[in-house]
Amino acid sequence: MAKIGTIDVGDFPLLLAPMEDVSDPPFRALCKEQGADVVYTEFISSEGLIRDAAKSVMKLDIYEKERPVGIQIFGAVLDSMLQSVEIVEASGPDIIDINFGCPVKKVVSKGAGAGILKDIDLMVSLTEAMVKHTKLPITVKTRLGWDHDSIRIVEVAERLQDVGCKALSIHGRTRAQMYKGEADWAPIAEVKNNPRMHIPIFGNGDVDSPEKAKEMRDVYGLDGAMIGRASIGYPWFFKEVKHYFETGEHAPPPTMTERVAAARRHLQMAIDWKGEQLGVFETRRHYTNYFKGIPNFKEHRMKMVTSDDAASVFEAFDEALALFGDYQFA
Ligand SMILES: Cc1cc2nc3c(=O)[nH]c(=O)nc-3n(C[C@H](O)[C@H](O)[C@H](O)COP(=O)(O)O)c2cc1C
Repeated sequence: MAKIGTIDVGDFPLLLAPMEDVSDPPFRALCKEQGADVVYTEFISSEGLIRDAAKSVMKLDIYEKERPVGIQIFGAVLDSMLQSVEIVEASGPDIIDINFGCPVKKVVSKGAGAGILKDIDLMVSLTEAMVKHTKLPITVKTRLGWDHDSIRIVEVAERLQDVGCKALSIHGRTRAQMYKGEADWAPIAEVKNNPRMHIPIFGNGDVDSPEKAKEMRDVYGLDGAMIGRASIGYPWFFKEVKHYFETGEHAPPPTMTERVAAARRHLQMAIDWKGEQLGVFETRRHYTNYFKGIPNFKEHRMKMVTSDDAASVFEAFDEALALFGDYQFA
C-alpha cells in the first residue's frame, strides 16, 4: 500500500501526470472517473502566482471529486516558491508537487524545471524550505539527470527524502533527451532498491499499455505508475490497466457511444470552466485519440478541431455518432 505522507493512495496507484494545457479540471475529472488514483494539475509558475497572473491563478481550481489532487508548481527562487506555497495552500490541495523535470528552454534557462538538475544543492535546499513551510506533503517530479553523464538520481532521491519529500515521480529520461528515445526505468528501479529509501517511488515515461504498467510493477518493482501521453484523449487507459491487473486480459475498448459521450462531457466541462472560446480551443487536442482508428473520419475530425463555436463541435459529435455508432474498435 503506497502512502504519500498520511494519504493512502492504494496498491500500485496510477497517477495522472501533470501536463500543460491537458491536466485541467475537466480532463482530471474524466481520468478520475476512469480509475486514476491521484491526479496532478499542470505546472504553475511560482512567479506568475505571486504576481497574481490570472492564467496561473485559474490553474489552482480544484474540485472535491478529484481528490487526492496535487498542485504542481515550478520556479527556482526561494522566496517566490515559499510565497506560492502559501497561495497554493489556500486552494486546499492534498499534495504540493515541485516540478524539477520540465525540459523546455524558457523554464530551464531560468534554472527552474530540469534546469535545477545542474544544481542539486539548490534542488535539495528549495525542497527542504518548502517542506518546512507547509503541513501538506511535498512531492517532487524529476528526470534521471541533466544528461547521460550526470545521472545521480539514487543520491538525489536519498537527499530529497532526507529533507522530507514524501514521494518521488521519476521520468526515465534525462533533460538532454527531451522526449526522444525510450524511457529507461532501470535507474528508477535502482532508486527503489536502495535500502535507505522508504518513500514511494513512482515511475514515469512511456507507460502506454497495460503490459508496460505491469512490467513497471512486477519487473521494476516500482510503487506506482505516472501516466501522461497515453491518457490524452483516452481517459479509459487507467481502467484498462486496472482490468488487466485484475484479470490478465484486455478490457474491451470503449464503444463509439462511450467515446462521443466522453468527448461531449469533456467539452461541456471545459466550457463551463473556462468559457466557450478557450474550452473549444483547448479540448481539440483530445479528439484525435478519442476517435483514433476510425477509417474515413478525417472530415469529421477536421470539423471538431477547426470549428470555433461549441455548437458546431457538438454537431460534429452527433454526426460522427450517427455515421459510426456501430464501429468496432480494435
Ligand atoms: C503536453 C504535455 C505537457 C506536459 N506538461 C508537464 C507539466 O506541466 N509538468 C510536468 O511535470 N510534466 C509535464 N509533462 C511531462 C509529463 O508529465 C510526463 O513526464 C511525460 O509526458 C512522460 O510520461 P508519458 O510517457 O506517460 O507521457 C508534459 C508532457 C506533455 C506531453
